[in-house]
Amino acid sequence: MAQFRVYVTRKILGTGLDRLRKIANVIIHSGSKALSPQELLASVKDCDGLITMLNDQITSEIIDAAGAKLRVISNHAVGFDNIDVAYATRKSILVTNTPDVLTETTADLTWALLMAAARRLIEGDHITRTGQWQEWTPDFLLGVDVHHKTLGIIGLGRIGLAVAKRALGFEMRVLYYNRTRRPDLESQFHLEYRSLEELLRESDFVSVHVPRTRETTRLIGRDQLKLMKPSAILINAARGSIVDETALVQALKESRIKAAALDVYQEEPTRNQALFNLPNVVLSPHLGSATLETRTKMADLAVDNLLYGLTKQFDKMKIVNPSVLKQL
Ligand code: NAP
Ligand code: GLV
Ligand code: GLV
Repeated sequence: MAQFRVYVTRKILGTGLDRLRKIANVIIHSGSKALSPQELLASVKDCDGLITMLNDQITSEIIDAAGAKLRVISNHAVGFDNIDVAYATRKSILVTNTPDVLTETTADLTWALLMAAARRLIEGDHITRTGQWQEWTPDFLLGVDVHHKTLGIIGLGRIGLAVAKRALGFEMRVLYYNRTRRPDLESQFHLEYRSLEELLRESDFVSVHVPRTRETTRLIGRDQLKLMKPSAILINAARGSIVDETALVQALKESRIKAAALDVYQEEPTRNQALFNLPNVVLSPHLGSATLETRTKMADLAVDNLLYGLTKQFDKMKIVNPSVLKQL
């Protein structure tokens, strides 16, 4: 008989679950739609471990519904704002995530958004495929240059730094704002530290890479958007609620900033018609880590984290709440 019971809220890539099956009874939600909170509540009962997706809200109720055996919640994402980590910690449950393996892939997507917004690729694609392209003229669909401009990174963590490194090839000036100042990285990658306000005032492109926490929720609101240049472009591939979406729509409508490119939204899937009506936004459906290679690595890492948690090989895990270890 399997030693453990594990619930996986979505089919994941690769062969990791076969490794897990050697020690656990693995149940996978294979439906085409995400589980409702009620379904999730019923499914997690008596589990030792869970593999969860970023769109599963792992609340205190869900944690309680799992029961006393629950030991590890392995999130198939680097962000873990969907999990009540404080509550899990109180209950001595380890929470893990999938950092590093998706850093470069998410930085690539951030750059795809930045370039698409700067050079109006989505508008151009639409005009081309709908046969509306009349002729080449000197002033047709003009964008803005990226090279030699100023990029402002908000949150110089793994992904923020990977985005910054790419900017060096475009010979950009790179500013950053971060909770912790990083003099080591400043000299190595020619980065300049700024306060948030200074960064917003000086940057031609502002890219958001902080996690969603209480402090970062609506970090970019009406007042912050007002500080940006009218020619500036905002990119958000972190979490939707870090930017006040209503204030952003207003700023774009009033041309207080030039454009925005978003991978994440206040609500997902977004149905924000006000956003859809704007020509100067590029919208992608939360694709940051969405490559075959990276999603396979994320699945393997999520499985490893769970496996190590169940078998108490804590030193090998990517633990979000390491203080739990002292309680075990
Ligand atoms: P990370 O390495 O932990 O970087 C986060 C950075 O934000 C750290 O440098 C941290 O500063 C800084 N920070 C945290 N709170 C702050 C605050 N209140 N003010 C200023 N700076 C603050 O995380 P990561 O791996 O780069 O991932 C970043 C986020 O990207 C994830 O949390 C996730 O939400 C998002 N993401 C999205 C996608 C997507 O599909 N679109 C894919 C992957 C990740 P310290 O140095 O002081 O800790
Ligand atoms: C994706 O958004 C992640 O946090 O991994
Ligand atoms: C553009 O295609 C050019 O040749 O300048």
